[in-house]
Amino acid sequence: MKHDAAEFRKLGHEVVEWMANYFADPARFPVTPTMRPGDLIDRLPRSGPLTGEPLAKSVEDFYKLVMPAVVHWNHPRFLNYFGCSASTPAVLAEMLVSVVNTNGFNWTASPAVAELEEVALGWLRQWMGISSNFFGIIYDTASTSTLHALAAAREVSDPDSRQKGTRPGLRIYCSDQAHSSVDKAVLTLGIGLDNLQKIESDAQFSMKPDLLEARIQADLAAGLLPCVIVATIGTTSTTSSDPLREVLEIAKKYKLWLHVDTAYAGVTAMLPEYAAWFDGLSEADSIVVNPHKWMFVTVDTSVLYTRHPKVLRRAFTYNPEYLTSSQDPRAVNLMDYGFQLGRRFRAVKLWFVMRYFGLEGIQKVLRGHMVLARNFQALVEADERFELTAPTPFSTVCFRLKGSDPVNRELLARVNATHDTFISQTILHGRFCLRVAVGNIATEQEDMEAVWQLIQREADSIL
Ligand SMILES: Cc1ncc(COP(=O)(O)O)c(C=O)c1O
Repeated sequence: MKHDAAEFRKLGHEVVEWMANYFADPARFPVTPTMRPGDLIDRLPRSGPLTGEPLAKSVEDFYKLVMPAVVHWNHPRFLNYFGCSASTPAVLAEMLVSVVNTNGFNWTASPAVAELEEVALGWLRQWMGISSNFFGIIYDTASTSTLHALAAAREVSDPDSRQKGTRPGLRIYCSDQAHSSVDKAVLTLGIGLDNLQKIESDAQFSMKPDLLEARIQADLAAGLLPCVIVATIGTTSTTSSDPLREVLEIAKKYKLWLHVDTAYAGVTAMLPEYAAWFDGLSEADSIVVNPHKWMFVTVDTSVLYTRHPKVLRRAFTYNPEYLTSSQDPRAVNLMDYGFQLGRRFRAVKLWFVMRYFGLEGIQKVLRGHMVLARNFQALVEADERFELTAPTPFSTVCFRLKGSDPVNRELLARVNATHDTFISQTILHGRFCLRVAVGNIATEQEDMEAVWQLIQREADSIL
């Protein structure tokens, strides 16, 4: 069957026109949809068509039916979670990659995938100041990257696990502020959640290294098998960081794998003034950073760097005859470094974004976001009805109304019910807090001021 290139050309031009308008003004949509669960399902047929429909109808239904159910992560007043905003180079790359639709699970299946990934991740590694002995690989999300890091660490501590399954008592350590992706990795690898030891954090939400060491010693004395420490630079709730250098020394002393989760904040390693947060990064065993969070590469793009690619390979290599590939030392077979076989050509969007902005361009946006966050923090501080509930080392501000949890929950609900912004919540030291995370490429000072006025207005009406 031949493709209908003429129809594609006509619709393609129209769709690109729509995309350009979207980029020109993403704020013309409400940040969040005004729908009830099931509304979209109820508006769509229960089964697929027996005979084909004109492509234009699907495009039209996307605009008419699907768009009203979309949360606009590209909206400048989207301040929830950690921002993931698209950029024009990333979207153009996605379009090109979709057309060629090459599946680069190994070098033979598509050399471009492996080789461009090596180039783009080499550039990113240099920009982040990570040493050249680190190998990089793109996975979909930080959850997957961390899962692979833990699997590699297990391969070192418990080499029989490949054949026999995980040895009971293999211990994993992280702070009580670590992301739930660590818990999920432990679950998935069959290590057992009881073996995930959450080390208490201090008043600044940073792992207490003395408690970490005491827990490792107690585990050793009990005949358990300490395996890996996960340290976080830029935790999800408050963007706090664990004391990397101290944790690193403990990892070295007890010969444990150190995985650094810097999924959100890792990009700030590109800023010389943030170097102190990353002291020791190149001595870690593995690092995860997500260009799809704060580097304007579209979801999903997470990068795992490790100093031990041979270990990762040992953990995952499994080669049936039908997947034979080039064994040339320069031909990297990415399927050997993880559980997935099929591999999207994600490096193109990272490569396009890096070339479009350049290091200085990315640095400028990141610094601008820090300023927006600090200005917002000052607005909160200036209103005596509010209090800050965590430091703001990067671009996320945690605060609350001085009052009860129910009042703060009510405030969040009212703010988000306007659909003019979308902010988040967390629990800190047992108290419910609001959380505003700057990371969207389109956000400007006037957006932050408008959101703050909205929060104040809703606070007025509650109080
Ligand atoms: C510190 C940290 N690690 C890991 C993750 C998980 O990211 P992903 O959605 O890419 O799995 C997040 C998500 O926000 C995060 O903040």
